[in-house]
Amino acid sequence: MKVDGQEMRPIWFDTDSKTVQIIDQRRLPHEFIIEDLNTVDDVIRAIKDMYVRGAPLIGATGALGVYISLIQKNNKGSDNAYVEAECTRLKDARPTAMNLFWGVDRVRDVVLEETSTEARVKAALATALEVVEEEAINCRKIGEYGLSIIEEISRQKNGEPVNILTHCNAGWLACVEYGTATAPIYTAFDNGIDVHVWVDETRPLNQGARLTAWELGKHGINHTVITDNAGGHLMQHKMVDLVIVGTDRTTRAGDVANKIGTYLKALAARDNDIPFYVALPSSTFDWTITDGIKDIPIEERDPDEIRYVQGLLNGKIQSVLVPPGASKAANHAFDVTPSRLVTGFITERGLCKATQEDIMALFPDKKIG
Ligand code: MRU
Repeated sequence: MKVDGQEMRPIWFDTDSKTVQIIDQRRLPHEFIIEDLNTVDDVIRAIKDMYVRGAPLIGATGALGVYISLIQKNNKGSDNAYVEAECTRLKDARPTAMNLFWGVDRVRDVVLEETSTEARVKAALATALEVVEEEAINCRKIGEYGLSIIEEISRQKNGEPVNILTHCNAGWLACVEYGTATAPIYTAFDNGIDVHVWVDETRPLNQGARLTAWELGKHGINHTVITDNAGGHLMQHKMVDLVIVGTDRTTRAGDVANKIGTYLKALAARDNDIPFYVALPSSTFDWTITDGIKDIPIEERDPDEIRYVQGLLNGKIQSVLVPPGASKAANHAFDVTPSRLVTGFITERGLCKATQEDIMALFPDKKIG
């Protein structure tokens, strides 16, 4: 996607310096900083501390992390136990997004088929870059399939703006290109459909207010930032036509883990008869489980993310304490929306209902674990 006229992705391999580079998303929208990832420790820090975040991007970063484990200056690339241990460290960086496990394992599997370090490095880089390109194509297809939903609502409204509510950032910053939830929105806008996006600020780290608003603004899309609690009110007053969110892990039966607060949006959407769609590439499905509430691990992050709010003050990014210093805080980062509240999925293979039958009919080649 373009940032001030320049094509940008949140991660790329710089062929001149042979370095993996990322945008540091912690600093957006106020500072635009590019970081190099040279070691597995760099990659783990970038994922854990959320320089990179969003399920498909974490998957792509993990995949490139396996390549980085082989070029670190320790000459251990031909040692299988070393490769396995570095992959485990990468996968331990964050627990909820399925894509991290998928991306790391996909590169690990091809690496272990080779014996020499040289062949392993080559295979790892080629496969990791394949992951990056495939995710970009998947998101483009999600945009194409999701367009039909927005087109239909626009037709029903005789071209009046289609009001779409989204939670967190499931945009190109969270993926490689286009985004998941935002891909249909970008595609609709590029096709001349009048869209307006309600952007949930998404406490505690404000991925909506900081990142989704920044992305949409750079693309010229009309949007309004709202508090996380405003969605229900807007839905009751017919100010939302459609909800589209992304997901970090979805079971093969259609239960959806996504940024904390997504479940409440789904409940409000159901109560107000508003379609609630989830956009995802197949790398986000966990084919091994059916019960999301029981089986999806929910990340608990540092309570200080709740206690402090970060923003621009006097030209500098600063943090301020909100609750009393002695109050405890709890930071559950994701929740699970049961499949019964999901109108449907938008995937790279098309639309489907949130049932095991429909999901597996779209992905018959996926092995049930
Ligand atoms: O904690 P984050 O910022 O990694 O959480 C990201 C989300 O919840 C996104 O909505 C999700 O990954 C959707 S995928 C683009």
